[in-house]
Amino acid sequence: MTLDEKLTLLEGHAGFPFRGQKTPEGAIGSAGFVPGVARLGIPSLQETDAGLGITDPENVRPGDAAVALPSALSLASAWDETEAEAWGGMLGREAASRGFNVLLGPGLDLARDPRGGRNFEYGMEDPLLAGQLAGAVIRGIQQSPVIAVGKHFALNDQESGRQVLDARIGEAAARESDWLAFEIALEQGKPGAVMCAYNRVNGPYACENPFLLNQVLKADWHYPGFVLSDWGAVHGTGAAAAGLDQESAAEFDAQPFFSPGALRGALAGGALTPARIDDMATRIVGAIAAAGLLDPQLHVAPEPARDLEIARRAAAAGAVLLRNQGAALPLPKALKRVLVVGGEADAGVLAGGGSSLVKPVGGFARVVAQSGPGPAAFHDAFFDPPSPLSRIAAKLPGASVTFDDGRYPARAAAGARAADAVIVFATQWSGEMTDIPDLALPGGQDATIEAVAAANPRTIVVLETGGPVSMPWRDRVAAIVEAWYPGSGGADAIADLLFGDADFAGRLPVTFPAALAQLPSPDLPGQYLPQGTPFVVDYGEGANIGYRWFSARRETPLYPFGFGLSYTRFALSGLAVQGGHALALSFDVRNAGARRGVAVAEAYLTRRPGGPALRLIGWARRDLAPGETAHVTIAANPRLLADYDAAAHRWIRAAGEYRVAVGAASDDAALTGQARLEAATAPP
Ligand code: GLC
Repeated sequence: MTLDEKLTLLEGHAGFPFRGQKTPEGAIGSAGFVPGVARLGIPSLQETDAGLGITDPENVRPGDAAVALPSALSLASAWDETEAEAWGGMLGREAASRGFNVLLGPGLDLARDPRGGRNFEYGMEDPLLAGQLAGAVIRGIQQSPVIAVGKHFALNDQESGRQVLDARIGEAAARESDWLAFEIALEQGKPGAVMCAYNRVNGPYACENPFLLNQVLKADWHYPGFVLSDWGAVHGTGAAAAGLDQESAAEFDAQPFFSPGALRGALAGGALTPARIDDMATRIVGAIAAAGLLDPQLHVAPEPARDLEIARRAAAAGAVLLRNQGAALPLPKALKRVLVVGGEADAGVLAGGGSSLVKPVGGFARVVAQSGPGPAAFHDAFFDPPSPLSRIAAKLPGASVTFDDGRYPARAAAGARAADAVIVFATQWSGEMTDIPDLALPGGQDATIEAVAAANPRTIVVLETGGPVSMPWRDRVAAIVEAWYPGSGGADAIADLLFGDADFAGRLPVTFPAALAQLPSPDLPGQYLPQGTPFVVDYGEGANIGYRWFSARRETPLYPFGFGLSYTRFALSGLAVQGGHALALSFDVRNAGARRGVAVAEAYLTRRPGGPALRLIGWARRDLAPGETAHVTIAANPRLLADYDAAAHRWIRAAGEYRVAVGAASDDAALTGQARLEAATAPP
């Protein structure tokens, strides 16, 4: 490659009209575009968002609708690597069939705060669950000739002040939490690229942070791919020497810092070396080659029906049954009068906002305008068709199924009194660039739920939220379903679950707090500071995110990490724990109920020689017929048994006794055991 050809690969562009710039020549029209090198058969990079389906920013591809997957909280709630790989496979096909060869996902940041505006895109508070599921999604994406991108490295765990905040955390804590999620996902998925985050990490911006990029990612983890910036996350040409390989969407930055002219200037001035330019280009071309993009491309045919089925299955597998008093669910199909209330359920299901928003097949069912910065996708509430109302009615031919929008509690209550059952939908919008103000359901929905529940004890609440919410009415309703943002297959999945044509298999991937006061930061740092005001976010809780924090503080959440009910019930027995060099658990899971169901048995470390430490170390998911027993073996992930020693630059596992628990949630020690392990150390 000539120097010019190498430099061409280092500067990306917005793939849609932006600040007066037209869609670049050769760009399909999407989030980003990087010209290729035709002389050498290196294709342009056609970059699309992202983790929940193929987006169409600013409607740059009119008429191109896509299947909207449910939120990553659904994916996470399924605790199912096979499902996650199918999810990724769908994303890869949907991207490749449109000509895209870079998929800007999955999101890997941890849900450190339940108010995080992009928790619906990330989904998890635990590094092992996040790393293994994201690794599976990446494997799925890259089954097509598409480069997957793990994002946003690192600690982009809130939206407030994301472009100016400085995330402060100890190295050991970071390596045992946020960075561990990336490390596992990179090991298991091998994404061609990593996107560095907007925020600072212990001082330097993530996209010009030599420790984060050159030391941790490239030296310690031997990452062979390339680092591309987030859109508008580059602050100088010096980022190249600090480990950034490609500037995305240069039009979003104060100036094109990686333009050929700027890079030639840095070379001439000695701030950049020819060897580093070669390294940057080699990483990019290497990822292009690894994705098979240098080979003749077989056309990837679109399969919308298959993809819609994956979306429906994911929505069903990812819904979590939180309460089912007196087996109120499944609802009988003999019901004659059902009232459906609220949540725009007569139109569709809620989607999250921002760059991940998919323009769904059939078009948006409804848009509820809300105030906020940026394009409408970043603040309006968009609803995906079909409507839950239509799918519920389809389950009850001949019955009276009516709808009340829920805006007047008294009117909804009046309708509830005349119904055999009431299904109340409640929504909480969240989206990129803003965090959720608090955990209370907005817009008077709590009052409507209270009024309906007082009028009819057979009240079922279906939540469409971007994360945990408070539920003051919890003990006064019959059943509660957390459906997250359920996507194009959501209405069908919800109806199937409510009427028992599918079983609940979801287990919470995030802790539902009982109160904000229980959190490490009851006030979300910087949430109401004037735009652009720099501030520090001190992650003093370190690696104790979510359930780990609640356990260390002996706090009782509203619902614990890992919790979820089923239409059947399971019994665990016969735990055997094997130690020595590695830790392995084996036990039996039996379906003790009268109908088929999915069991998720979760294995946790509870204590190691250094003291108590609750950490997910593995899990097993089994679909069991009534009375069926599965014998399960879980090999504990060794990094979760060790502590990182920053001074020694190694993982260190002390010799001694390691105690474990297996159960149906992070606070359920149905089986306990222990084993002795030898001392061990490992490089980072
Ligand atoms: C956004 C997001 C990132 C997305 C990119 C392109 O600001 O942070 O996740 O992939 O820009 O749309």
